[in-house]
Amino acid sequence: MQAWHHHPPGGTEKLKIVQVNIPEIDDDEVLVRVHAAGLIWMELYWQLYEKEDGTYKTPIPGEDYSGVIVKVGSKVPKEKRLEVGTEVMVFVTKAFSSKRSTDGGMAEYAKAHFSRMIRKPQSLSHVEAASVPLSALTAWQGLFDYAKLQAGQTLLVAGGTGPTALWAIQMGKMVGARVIATAASEQSFKLLKSLNVDEVINYKEVKLESALENIDVVFNAVGDETTKQALKVVSKDGIIVNIVDTTVGDLSKESVRDSFREPFFRKEEGRTVVFFIVDMNVEQLTKICNLLEEGKLKAVIGGVFEFNDAVNAFKQGETGHAHGKIVVKGPGL
Ligand SMILES: NC(=O)c1ccc[n+]([C@@H]2O[C@H](COP(=O)([O-])OP(=O)(O)OC[C@H]3O[C@@H](n4cnc5c(N)ncnc54)[C@H](OP(=O)(O)O)[C@@H]3O)[C@@H](O)[C@H]2O)c1
Repeated sequence: MQAWHHHPPGGTEKLKIVQVNIPEIDDDEVLVRVHAAGLIWMELYWQLYEKEDGTYKTPIPGEDYSGVIVKVGSKVPKEKRLEVGTEVMVFVTKAFSSKRSTDGGMAEYAKAHFSRMIRKPQSLSHVEAASVPLSALTAWQGLFDYAKLQAGQTLLVAGGTGPTALWAIQMGKMVGARVIATAASEQSFKLLKSLNVDEVINYKEVKLESALENIDVVFNAVGDETTKQALKVVSKDGIIVNIVDTTVGDLSKESVRDSFREPFFRKEEGRTVVFFIVDMNVEQLTKICNLLEEGKLKAVIGGVFEFNDAVNAFKQGETGHAHGKIVVKGPGL
């Protein structure tokens, strides 16, 4: 089959299309013909792939994808209704150490444990479905598992038009929060307006502390500098949910990565700050899909690229100004 391989260390110059064998599945795994895969531009710079001896694994990029089942292991429970021909959306998390493969969806076929997938709603295209799991689950877990966001609260989403932030904005509006977002381009402002964001702050012109106070929940998709500013605007009982945080340790170490199966809570200037890494949750992803089907949430796609053009897809992500999720189509589709 055709697959993209990344040969770290290095960025897009280390991506290659290769011919490899179709993966063999274990009894509890499922093989999927990939139709579309979500792109994570940052993953080319993750330290995860460095081995003990200083050499590197050569992973297939991607963590979430959508496609059609072509093979089912004998121990996959029948009640999961994962059969040959079933359309599924899949999310594998490479961040946590595992004996299983760290290969993702940028290939003709990909395999995953049955617990990493759900049936794809018919109303979603494969491109839309591939854009959902990683980004939408990150927003869901950040807002509801950790911040316990409620109606009437004020939510600030920093980095408002990135793929994860766009879900956080929609989910915040959905539960009745007042939603403020940061962005810096006309295109971003237009997109945020279309999502009925209550207030937009141009992060290039305005410091958060000069415009805001008493924020209940900050969803920070940007980084440490934004955390510093957010500490000045979050209320005493509020919380900053970080999905990017370089202050919490070296994620390249297996032991540290395993410890991130639990969120990392700390107090800074008397405020609660949490950093967490998203994981698959079948129940939550099913709820998100139901909301998509009901029209209460929508997938925002920032770009769709042919399989052979994946390098340009990564380059678009690397600009740091993606407006929605970038998706790469499966080969030959
Ligand atoms: N912890 C986890 O489990 C987890 C899960 C998912 C993602 N992440 C991380 O979260 C980060 C965001 O990822 P993403 O893929 O959603 O988005 P992304 O593609 O990294 O972000 C692009 C967006 O960021 C905005 N932006 C850039 N610099 C900014 C700044 N200084 N202040 C405010 N906004 C800024 C841009 O808006 P303008 O065009 O308007 O400038 C653009 O819309 C990445 O670092 C990713 O690795 C972590």
